[in-house]
Order: sequence, then structure tokens, then C-alpha cells
Amino acid sequence: MSAAFIRPYRPADRDRIAHICLLTAAGGGDATGVYSDDSLMPEVFALPYVDYAPDLAFIVDDGTGRAAGYVIGVADTADFIDWWKREWGPGFAARHPVAGPPTAAKPRFTEADLLRAGRDPARMRIAELAAYPAHLHIDLLPELQGQGFGRRLIDTLRAALAERGVPAVHLGMDPANTAARAFYDRLGFHELPSSRPDAPLLGIGTTD
Ligand SMILES: CC(C)(COP(=O)(O)OP(=O)(O)OC[C@H]1O[C@@H](n2cnc3c(N)ncnc32)[C@H](O)[C@@H]1OP(=O)(O)O)[C@@H](O)C(=O)NCCC(=O)NCCS
Repeated sequence: MSAAFIRPYRPADRDRIAHICLLTAAGGGDATGVYSDDSLMPEVFALPYVDYAPDLAFIVDDGTGRAAGYVIGVADTADFIDWWKREWGPGFAARHPVAGPPTAAKPRFTEADLLRAGRDPARMRIAELAAYPAHLHIDLLPELQGQGFGRRLIDTLRAALAERGVPAVHLGMDPANTAARAFYDRLGFHELPSSRPDAPLLGIGTTD
């Protein structure tokens, strides 16, 4: 098997990004079938990022050209919110006018919550945005986890942000994802003042 490596995102990775998002969206595990429509999670938490900021998306290539993990980010969350309102929100609302029937999974973050998230990018306007203007999402397929790719992806994105003069980056996460929390703690992320136990908000400088 060829060795995996990190490379910049390219448009041909887009469908794989959506797939990886779905396979890791249930507290770090497979979210297939959790919602009535498997396209919802990627349309809220992955695809707008690669469309808006393809140059801040980095891929773990499994050695065959296939993406098996990613970090995606935006440098200026406030500008991303404006772009979302203009460019992403209308199509999203048209594709997903109403929540589908409930599934057996009964997720805590319901399909109605997910639809609201897709329509309300202002949810990303955290109190600490001036000091932490960038934000990110990171997901690796299980076969690539625990080999140092997560740390290297975060370092790659932080370096790209630092190059653009962005001082710090934040992320929001599912409090049930204790493995991811241990990872962020290990890398030196800290809780932001507006972090809540039910909605953890973490941040880190780009050059710390
Ligand atoms: C969370 C995730 C991004 C971490 O990436 P990873 O490649 O598995 O982590 P790494 O191997 O780079 O680990 C980096 C460091 O964190 C530590 N770490 C990682 N996971 C840990 C865990 N569950 N518990 C304790 N420490 C952990 C590692 O020991 C390592 O320490 P070191 O570099 O000092 O030796 C990855 O596992 C993943 O994508 N999980 C599924 C999706 C997900 O949960 N995404 C995050 C949503 S908020």
C-alpha cells in the first residue's frame, strides 16, 4: 500500500470531503442514516468551506490520490458569514425546505437544528471573533487516525493562516466527542471565555 501524505485540496476531492464528513459526523463516528438526508451534514460542515476557501483546505491523500482526511478552515469568519448569506444559504434552503421524517437514531442535534444551522450562518459570530477570526473543522477516516496526521493537518493550517497574518483560530465541537477533546487538549487548544459545557469552544494561536 502506498504511504499517505498531506497535500493541498483540489476540486476533484469535493465528493470525498462530503463522504468523509458524513463518516465522522456522529461524535467522531459514522453518521450515515442519522438524518433523513445524508447530504445535510456535509452541506453545513464541509462543502461551504471548500467552496469558499479551497486554499485553506488540506487533504490526507491515502497514497492513491484518494482523500482520506482533511482540515478545512476560513481565515475570516465574519466574511464567511456574509458569503454564506449571499452564496450558500439560498441554495441550501431551496434544497432542504423542511426537515424530513425522524430517524431511529434520534440525534441530540436534531435535523431541525441542522436545517437552522444551514440557514443561520450568524451562529458562527462568536464573542471572541476579533481575537480568533479563523475557524476550522478536521476529520480523518478511522484507518488514518492515531498516526500523527491530525497534528500535522492542524500545523499545516495554522502555518497557512499565520502566513496570511491571522493571529488565532477557533473551533466548536460536540461535547460527546471526548477523543477529539483529548486531541485538542494535547495540541494546546484552550477553552474560550464563551465556551459552554454543552457547546465547547476552543482556540489556539497560529504561531504559539
Ligand atoms: C480527532 C482527530 C482529528 C485526531 O487526529 P489523529 O490523527 O487521530 O491524532 P494524532 O495522531 O495527530 O494525535 C496528536 C496527538 O494527540 C494525542 N491524541 C489523539 N487522540 C487522542 C485521544 N483520543 N486521547 C488522548 N490523546 C490523543 C496523540 O497521542 C498525539 O499526541 P503526540 O503528538 O504528543 O504524540 C481524528 O482522530 C479524527 O478525525 N477523528 C474522527 C473525527 C473527529 O472526531 N473530528 C473532530 C471533530 S470536532
